[in-house]
Amino acid sequence: MSDEQINVADFERAAAAKLEPGVLGYFAGGAGDESTLRDNVAAWGRWQLRPRMLTGTAEWSARTEVLGAQLSMPVLVAPVAFQRLVDPEGEAAMARAAATAGTAMCLSTLATALPGEVAAAAPGGHHWFQLYCFSDEGVTTALMESAVDSGFEAIVVTVDAPRAGNRERDFRTGFALPEGLGVPSVQAALGADREVTVQEAFSLVDPGLSWPDLEGLASRCEVPVLVKGVLTGEDASLAVEHGAAGVVVSNHGGRQLDRVAPTADSLEEVVDAVAGRAPVLVDGGIRRGVDVAIALALGADAVLVGRPALWGLAVGGERGAQRVLEILRAELELTLLLCGCASPGALTRAHVQRAPAATVYSG
Ligand SMILES: Cc1cc2nc3c(=O)[nH]c(=O)nc-3n(C[C@H](O)[C@H](O)[C@H](O)COP(=O)(O)O)c2cc1C
Repeated sequence: MSDEQINVADFERAAAAKLEPGVLGYFAGGAGDESTLRDNVAAWGRWQLRPRMLTGTAEWSARTEVLGAQLSMPVLVAPVAFQRLVDPEGEAAMARAAATAGTAMCLSTLATALPGEVAAAAPGGHHWFQLYCFSDEGVTTALMESAVDSGFEAIVVTVDAPRAGNRERDFRTGFALPEGLGVPSVQAALGADREVTVQEAFSLVDPGLSWPDLEGLASRCEVPVLVKGVLTGEDASLAVEHGAAGVVVSNHGGRQLDRVAPTADSLEEVVDAVAGRAPVLVDGGIRRGVDVAIALALGADAVLVGRPALWGLAVGGERGAQRVLEILRAELELTLLLCGCASPGALTRAHVQRAPAATVYSG
Protein backbone atom coordinates (compact mmCIF):
# COMPACT_ATOMS: atom_id res chain seq x y z
CA MET A 1 0.00 0.00 0.00
CA SER A 2 1.25 3.51 -0.73
CA ASP A 3 -0.04 7.06 -0.64
CA GLU A 4 -0.87 6.63 -4.32
CA GLN A 5 -4.14 4.92 -3.45
CA ILE A 6 -6.57 7.70 -2.74
CA ASN A 7 -9.80 6.08 -3.92
CA VAL A 8 -11.35 2.64 -4.35
CA ALA A 9 -10.44 2.46 -8.05
CA ASP A 10 -6.77 2.95 -7.11
CA PHE A 11 -7.00 0.00 -4.72
CA GLU A 12 -8.71 -2.09 -7.39
CA ARG A 13 -5.91 -1.41 -9.89
CA ALA A 14 -3.21 -2.13 -7.30
CA ALA A 15 -4.90 -5.40 -6.29
CA ALA A 16 -5.24 -6.46 -9.94
CA ALA A 17 -1.51 -5.89 -10.42
CA LYS A 18 -0.65 -7.89 -7.30
CA LEU A 19 -2.91 -10.95 -7.33
CA GLU A 20 -2.20 -13.98 -9.46
CA PRO A 21 -4.69 -14.51 -12.33
CA GLY A 22 -6.76 -17.33 -10.81
CA VAL A 23 -7.28 -15.52 -7.50
CA LEU A 24 -7.94 -12.19 -9.22
CA GLY A 25 -10.51 -13.83 -11.51
CA TYR A 26 -12.27 -15.40 -8.53
CA PHE A 27 -12.63 -12.09 -6.68
CA ALA A 28 -13.21 -9.77 -9.65
CA GLY A 29 -15.37 -12.01 -11.79
CA GLY A 30 -19.09 -12.44 -12.22
CA ALA A 31 -21.51 -14.88 -13.82
CA GLY A 32 -22.07 -15.48 -17.54
CA ASP A 33 -21.30 -12.45 -19.71
CA GLU A 34 -20.80 -10.37 -16.54
CA SER A 35 -23.51 -7.94 -17.71
CA THR A 36 -24.90 -7.50 -14.20
CA LEU A 37 -21.39 -7.26 -12.73
CA ARG A 38 -20.66 -4.24 -14.93
CA ASP A 39 -24.12 -2.74 -14.63
CA ASN A 40 -24.00 -2.83 -10.81
CA VAL A 41 -21.30 -0.16 -10.96
CA ALA A 42 -22.74 1.74 -13.93
CA ALA A 43 -26.27 1.98 -12.51
CA TRP A 44 -25.31 4.21 -9.58
CA GLY A 45 -23.92 6.59 -12.23
CA ARG A 46 -27.36 6.86 -13.84
CA TRP A 47 -28.48 8.93 -10.87
CA GLN A 48 -27.57 12.53 -10.12
CA LEU A 49 -27.62 14.36 -6.82
CA ARG A 50 -29.92 17.34 -6.11
CA PRO A 51 -27.98 19.15 -3.38
CA ARG A 52 -29.63 21.81 -1.23
CA MET A 53 -27.87 25.04 -0.25
CA LEU A 54 -27.91 27.21 2.87
CA THR A 55 -29.43 24.49 5.02
CA GLY A 56 -27.47 25.76 8.03
CA THR A 57 -25.52 22.50 8.28
CA ALA A 58 -22.60 23.47 10.51
CA GLU A 59 -22.14 20.01 11.96
CA TRP A 60 -22.45 16.80 10.04
CA SER A 61 -21.56 13.17 10.45
CA ALA A 62 -21.95 9.83 8.71
CA ARG A 63 -22.77 8.13 12.03
CA THR A 64 -25.78 5.88 12.01
CA GLU A 65 -27.55 3.03 13.78
CA VAL A 66 -28.24 -0.29 12.10
CA LEU A 67 -30.19 -2.96 14.01
CA GLY A 68 -29.26 -1.28 17.27
CA ALA A 69 -25.53 -1.05 16.50
CA GLN A 70 -23.95 2.40 16.56
CA LEU A 71 -21.73 2.65 13.48
CA SER A 72 -19.40 5.35 12.19
CA MET A 73 -21.14 5.17 8.81
CA PRO A 74 -23.87 3.31 6.92
CA VAL A 75 -21.24 1.25 5.08
CA LEU A 76 -20.70 -2.33 6.26
CA VAL A 77 -18.34 -5.03 5.03
CA ALA A 78 -20.16 -7.62 2.91
CA PRO A 79 -19.55 -11.34 3.32
CA VAL A 80 -16.79 -12.41 0.94
CA ALA A 81 -15.49 -15.98 0.99
CA PHE A 82 -11.86 -17.19 1.33
CA GLN A 83 -10.16 -13.97 2.42
CA ARG A 84 -6.92 -15.75 3.31
CA LEU A 85 -6.39 -16.11 -0.45
CA VAL A 86 -5.32 -12.46 -0.49
CA ASP A 87 -3.85 -11.96 2.98
CA PRO A 88 -2.43 -14.41 5.51
CA GLU A 89 -4.60 -12.93 8.28
CA GLY A 90 -7.71 -13.00 6.07
CA GLU A 91 -11.01 -12.49 7.85
CA ALA A 92 -9.34 -11.68 11.19
CA ALA A 93 -7.58 -8.72 9.55
CA MET A 94 -10.80 -7.65 7.85
CA ALA A 95 -12.67 -7.79 11.15
CA ARG A 96 -10.04 -5.62 12.84
CA ALA A 97 -10.17 -3.15 9.93
CA ALA A 98 -13.95 -2.90 10.20
CA ALA A 99 -13.81 -2.48 13.97
CA THR A 100 -11.15 0.25 13.76
CA ALA A 101 -13.18 2.01 11.07
CA GLY A 102 -16.18 1.80 13.41
CA THR A 103 -18.38 -0.39 11.29
CA ALA A 104 -19.69 -3.95 11.15
CA MET A 105 -18.30 -6.91 9.23
CA CYS A 106 -20.35 -9.80 7.93
CA LEU A 107 -18.41 -13.08 7.97
CA SER A 108 -19.11 -15.59 5.19
CA THR A 109 -20.11 -19.21 5.81
CA LEU A 110 -17.27 -19.90 3.37
CA ALA A 111 -14.75 -17.95 5.45
CA THR A 112 -11.26 -19.25 6.09
CA ALA A 113 -11.65 -18.48 9.81
CA LEU A 114 -14.14 -19.57 12.45
CA PRO A 115 -16.56 -17.07 14.01
CA GLY A 116 -14.81 -17.50 17.35
CA GLU A 117 -11.44 -16.62 15.82
CA VAL A 118 -12.88 -13.50 14.20
CA ALA A 119 -14.57 -12.41 17.41
CA ALA A 120 -11.30 -12.89 19.32
CA ALA A 121 -9.35 -10.94 16.68
CA ALA A 122 -11.62 -7.92 16.93
CA PRO A 123 -13.21 -7.82 20.38
CA GLY A 124 -15.71 -5.00 20.65
CA GLY A 125 -16.34 -5.03 16.90
CA HIS A 126 -19.77 -5.57 15.40
CA HIS A 127 -19.91 -8.97 13.74
CA TRP A 128 -22.68 -10.48 11.60
CA PHE A 129 -22.66 -13.99 10.19
CA GLN A 130 -23.73 -14.86 6.63
CA LEU A 131 -25.49 -18.22 6.57
CA TYR A 132 -26.03 -20.64 3.73
CA CYS A 133 -28.84 -23.06 4.57
CA PHE A 134 -27.75 -26.64 4.07
CA SER A 135 -30.00 -29.59 3.17
CA ASP A 136 -29.02 -31.06 6.52
CA GLU A 137 -30.77 -28.75 8.97
CA GLY A 138 -28.41 -29.87 11.72
CA VAL A 139 -25.47 -28.39 9.80
CA THR A 140 -27.31 -25.09 9.34
CA THR A 141 -28.19 -24.96 13.04
CA ALA A 142 -24.61 -25.78 14.07
CA LEU A 143 -23.29 -22.92 11.90
CA MET A 144 -25.83 -20.47 13.26
CA GLU A 145 -25.24 -21.47 16.87
CA SER A 146 -21.49 -21.24 16.55
CA ALA A 147 -21.82 -17.63 15.34
CA VAL A 148 -24.37 -16.65 17.99
CA ASP A 149 -22.29 -18.29 20.74
CA SER A 150 -19.30 -16.24 19.53
CA GLY A 151 -21.25 -13.01 20.05
CA PHE A 152 -22.30 -12.36 16.46
CA GLU A 153 -25.13 -9.84 16.45
CA ALA A 154 -27.11 -10.85 13.35
CA ILE A 155 -27.51 -13.73 10.92
CA VAL A 156 -27.69 -12.87 7.22
CA VAL A 157 -29.28 -15.70 5.25
CA THR A 158 -28.17 -15.62 1.62
CA VAL A 159 -31.00 -16.79 -0.61
CA ASP A 160 -29.64 -16.20 -4.12
CA ALA A 161 -27.14 -19.05 -4.22
CA PRO A 162 -28.80 -22.50 -4.13
CA ARG A 163 -25.84 -23.36 -6.35
CA ALA A 164 -22.81 -21.29 -7.44
CA GLY A 165 -23.36 -19.12 -10.53
CA ASN A 166 -21.74 -19.80 -13.89
CA ARG A 167 -18.39 -18.13 -13.25
CA GLU A 168 -16.52 -18.60 -16.49
CA ARG A 169 -13.34 -16.84 -15.38
CA ASP A 170 -12.86 -19.62 -12.83
CA PHE A 171 -13.33 -22.29 -15.51
CA ARG A 172 -10.78 -20.59 -17.74
CA THR A 173 -8.15 -20.27 -15.01
CA GLY A 174 -8.99 -23.63 -13.43
CA PHE A 175 -9.35 -21.82 -10.11
CA ALA A 176 -9.28 -24.09 -7.07
CA LEU A 177 -8.54 -23.41 -3.43
CA PRO A 178 -4.91 -24.11 -2.63
CA GLU A 179 -4.23 -27.04 -0.38
CA GLY A 180 -4.38 -26.14 3.27
CA LEU A 181 -7.06 -23.49 2.79
CA GLY A 182 -10.43 -24.80 3.87
CA VAL A 183 -13.74 -23.57 5.19
CA PRO A 184 -13.47 -24.44 8.88
CA SER A 185 -17.05 -23.48 9.83
CA VAL A 186 -18.53 -25.85 7.29
CA GLN A 187 -16.03 -28.55 8.19
CA ALA A 188 -16.86 -28.21 11.87
CA ALA A 189 -20.61 -28.20 11.24
CA LEU A 190 -20.30 -31.28 9.04
CA GLY A 191 -18.03 -32.98 11.54
CA ALA A 192 -15.57 -33.55 8.67
CA ASP A 193 -11.91 -34.14 9.44
CA ARG A 194 -10.75 -33.08 5.95
CA GLU A 195 -10.91 -29.98 3.80
CA VAL A 196 -14.23 -29.27 2.09
CA THR A 197 -14.01 -27.93 -1.47
CA VAL A 198 -16.05 -24.95 -2.71
CA GLN A 199 -18.02 -27.19 -5.05
CA GLU A 200 -18.72 -29.61 -2.23
CA ALA A 201 -19.89 -26.85 0.12
CA PHE A 202 -22.28 -25.46 -2.53
CA SER A 203 -23.56 -28.94 -3.38
CA LEU A 204 -24.71 -29.28 0.24
CA VAL A 205 -26.73 -26.04 0.17
CA ASP A 206 -30.48 -26.71 0.18
CA PRO A 207 -31.87 -25.75 -3.26
CA GLY A 208 -35.41 -26.36 -1.99
CA LEU A 209 -35.40 -23.75 0.76
CA SER A 210 -38.74 -21.92 1.07
CA TRP A 211 -40.18 -18.93 2.93
CA PRO A 212 -41.71 -21.14 5.66
CA ASP A 213 -38.24 -22.64 6.20
CA LEU A 214 -36.88 -19.12 6.59
CA GLU A 215 -39.59 -18.34 9.10
CA GLY A 216 -38.72 -21.46 11.10
CA LEU A 217 -35.05 -20.49 11.15
CA ALA A 218 -35.81 -16.91 12.20
CA SER A 219 -38.01 -18.14 15.03
CA ARG A 220 -35.26 -20.46 16.30
CA CYS A 221 -32.56 -17.79 16.10
CA GLU A 222 -31.70 -15.66 19.13
CA VAL A 223 -30.47 -12.71 17.06
CA PRO A 224 -32.09 -10.82 14.16
CA VAL A 225 -32.15 -12.66 10.83
CA LEU A 226 -31.75 -10.69 7.62
CA VAL A 227 -32.41 -12.01 4.12
CA LYS A 228 -29.71 -11.24 1.55
CA GLY A 229 -30.24 -11.56 -2.18
CA VAL A 230 -33.70 -10.09 -2.68
CA LEU A 231 -34.32 -8.16 -5.91
CA THR A 232 -38.10 -7.73 -6.09
CA GLY A 233 -40.75 -6.00 -4.02
CA GLU A 234 -42.68 -9.28 -3.89
CA ASP A 235 -39.82 -11.17 -2.23
CA ALA A 236 -39.01 -8.27 0.08
CA SER A 237 -42.58 -8.33 1.39
CA LEU A 238 -42.47 -12.11 1.80
CA ALA A 239 -39.18 -11.83 3.70
CA VAL A 240 -40.66 -9.37 6.19
CA GLU A 241 -43.87 -11.40 6.51
CA HIS A 242 -41.76 -14.50 7.28
CA GLY A 243 -39.79 -12.98 10.11
CA ALA A 244 -36.86 -11.19 8.46
CA ALA A 245 -35.53 -8.35 10.60
CA GLY A 246 -34.00 -6.75 7.51
CA VAL A 247 -33.60 -7.19 3.78
CA VAL A 248 -30.41 -6.91 1.73
CA VAL A 249 -31.01 -5.95 -1.90
CA SER A 250 -28.23 -7.87 -3.59
CA ASN A 251 -27.40 -9.85 -6.73
CA HIS A 252 -24.29 -11.31 -5.07
CA GLY A 253 -22.08 -8.80 -6.83
CA GLY A 254 -23.16 -10.09 -10.26
CA ARG A 255 -21.85 -13.58 -9.46
CA GLN A 256 -25.06 -15.59 -9.48
CA LEU A 257 -27.73 -14.88 -12.13
CA ASP A 258 -26.41 -12.73 -14.95
CA ARG A 259 -28.82 -10.26 -16.57
CA VAL A 260 -30.73 -9.41 -13.41
CA ALA A 261 -31.18 -5.71 -12.76
CA PRO A 262 -28.37 -3.84 -11.06
CA THR A 263 -29.17 -3.31 -7.42
CA ALA A 264 -29.39 0.47 -7.85
CA ASP A 265 -32.43 -0.19 -10.06
CA SER A 266 -34.04 -2.78 -7.76
CA LEU A 267 -33.69 -0.74 -4.59
CA GLU A 268 -36.72 1.54 -4.91
CA GLU A 269 -39.27 -1.22 -5.44
CA VAL A 270 -37.92 -3.06 -2.40
CA VAL A 271 -38.00 0.10 -0.27
CA ASP A 272 -41.60 0.73 -1.37
CA ALA A 273 -42.68 -2.85 -0.65
CA VAL A 274 -41.01 -2.99 2.77
CA ALA A 275 -42.59 0.37 3.61
CA GLY A 276 -40.58 0.97 6.76
CA ARG A 277 -41.35 -2.42 8.33
CA ALA A 278 -37.65 -3.38 8.46
CA PRO A 279 -34.30 -1.89 7.49
CA VAL A 280 -33.33 -2.20 3.84
CA LEU A 281 -29.65 -2.62 2.98
CA VAL A 282 -28.16 -2.80 -0.49
CA ASP A 283 -24.88 -3.97 -2.02
CA GLY A 284 -23.33 -4.24 -5.46
CA GLY A 285 -21.16 -1.77 -7.33
CA ILE A 286 -20.75 0.79 -4.52
CA ARG A 287 -17.36 2.38 -5.19
CA ARG A 288 -17.75 5.98 -4.02
CA GLY A 289 -19.24 7.95 -1.16
CA VAL A 290 -21.64 9.49 -3.70
CA ASP A 291 -22.90 5.97 -4.53
CA VAL A 292 -23.63 5.48 -0.83
CA ALA A 293 -25.46 8.83 -0.70
CA ILE A 294 -27.59 7.89 -3.72
CA ALA A 295 -28.49 4.55 -2.13
CA LEU A 296 -29.53 6.32 1.08
CA ALA A 297 -31.55 8.90 -0.86
CA LEU A 298 -33.35 6.04 -2.63
CA GLY A 299 -34.36 4.68 0.76
CA ALA A 300 -31.60 2.31 1.88
CA ASP A 301 -30.68 2.37 5.57
CA ALA A 302 -27.13 1.24 4.82
CA VAL A 303 -24.97 -0.34 2.14
CA LEU A 304 -22.39 -3.12 2.12
CA VAL A 305 -19.19 -3.26 0.11
CA GLY A 306 -17.64 -6.53 -1.02
CA ARG A 307 -14.81 -6.09 -3.48
CA PRO A 308 -13.69 -2.60 -2.32
CA ALA A 309 -12.79 -3.86 1.16
CA LEU A 310 -11.26 -6.98 -0.34
CA TRP A 311 -9.02 -4.91 -2.66
CA GLY A 312 -7.88 -2.97 0.40
CA LEU A 313 -7.05 -6.21 2.22
CA ALA A 314 -5.18 -7.55 -0.82
CA VAL A 315 -3.11 -4.39 -1.25
CA GLY A 316 -2.35 -3.46 2.34
CA GLY A 317 -3.71 -6.13 4.70
CA GLU A 318 -5.65 -4.87 7.70
CA ARG A 319 -4.47 -1.27 7.16
CA GLY A 320 -5.44 -1.40 3.49
CA ALA A 321 -8.98 -2.57 4.24
CA GLN A 322 -9.27 0.06 6.97
CA ARG A 323 -8.06 2.75 4.57
CA VAL A 324 -10.69 1.80 1.96
CA LEU A 325 -13.42 2.03 4.59
CA GLU A 326 -12.10 5.39 5.79
CA ILE A 327 -11.96 6.72 2.23
CA LEU A 328 -15.62 5.79 1.75
CA ARG A 329 -16.54 7.44 5.03
CA ALA A 330 -14.67 10.65 4.18
CA GLU A 331 -16.28 10.74 0.73
CA LEU A 332 -19.73 10.20 2.21
CA GLU A 333 -19.21 12.88 4.85
CA LEU A 334 -18.17 15.42 2.23
CA THR A 335 -21.13 14.44 0.04
CA LEU A 336 -23.50 14.91 2.99
CA LEU A 337 -22.15 18.39 3.67
CA LEU A 338 -22.24 19.42 0.02
CA CYS A 339 -25.84 18.19 -0.21
CA GLY A 340 -26.79 20.22 2.87
CA CYS A 341 -27.46 17.14 5.01
CA ALA A 342 -26.31 16.78 8.61
CA SER A 343 -26.71 13.00 8.73
CA PRO A 344 -27.30 9.96 6.51
CA GLY A 345 -30.97 9.97 7.50
CA ALA A 346 -31.39 13.50 6.15
CA LEU A 347 -30.96 12.30 2.56
CA THR A 348 -34.33 11.86 0.89
CA ARG A 349 -35.74 10.93 -2.50
CA ALA A 350 -35.74 14.66 -3.29
CA HIS A 351 -31.93 14.61 -3.23
CA VAL A 352 -31.67 12.49 -6.40
CA GLN A 353 -32.93 12.51 -9.95
CA ARG A 354 -32.43 10.29 -12.97
CA ALA A 355 -29.50 11.38 -15.15
CA PRO A 356 -30.35 12.08 -18.80
CA ALA A 357 -30.11 8.86 -20.82
CA ALA A 358 -26.82 9.71 -22.52
CA THR A 359 -25.03 10.51 -19.24
CA VAL A 360 -22.44 8.01 -18.13
CA TYR A 361 -20.40 8.67 -15.02
CA SER A 362 -17.57 6.30 -14.40
CA GLY A 363 -14.44 6.19 -12.27
C1 LIG B 1 -15.18 -13.10 -4.22
C2 LIG B 1 -16.53 -12.93 -3.62
C3 LIG B 1 -17.00 -13.88 -2.72
C4 LIG B 1 -18.27 -13.73 -2.16
N1 LIG B 1 -18.68 -14.63 -1.23
C5 LIG B 1 -19.92 -14.48 -0.69
C6 LIG B 1 -20.37 -15.40 0.29
O1 LIG B 1 -19.66 -16.32 0.70
N2 LIG B 1 -21.63 -15.22 0.77
C7 LIG B 1 -22.45 -14.22 0.35
O2 LIG B 1 -23.57 -14.10 0.80
N3 LIG B 1 -22.02 -13.32 -0.56
C8 LIG B 1 -20.78 -13.44 -1.08
N4 LIG B 1 -20.35 -12.52 -2.00
C9 LIG B 1 -21.23 -11.40 -2.38
C10 LIG B 1 -20.99 -10.19 -1.48
O3 LIG B 1 -21.47 -10.42 -0.18
C11 LIG B 1 -21.71 -8.94 -2.01
O4 LIG B 1 -23.07 -9.23 -2.25
C12 LIG B 1 -21.08 -8.39 -3.28
O5 LIG B 1 -19.69 -8.56 -3.27
C13 LIG B 1 -21.42 -6.91 -3.42
O6 LIG B 1 -20.90 -6.39 -4.59
P1 LIG B 1 -19.52 -5.55 -4.68
O7 LIG B 1 -18.43 -6.57 -4.63
O8 LIG B 1 -19.66 -4.88 -6.00
O9 LIG B 1 -19.50 -4.60 -3.51
C14 LIG B 1 -19.08 -12.63 -2.54
C15 LIG B 1 -18.59 -11.67 -3.42
C16 LIG B 1 -17.32 -11.80 -3.96
C17 LIG B 1 -16.81 -10.74 -4.87
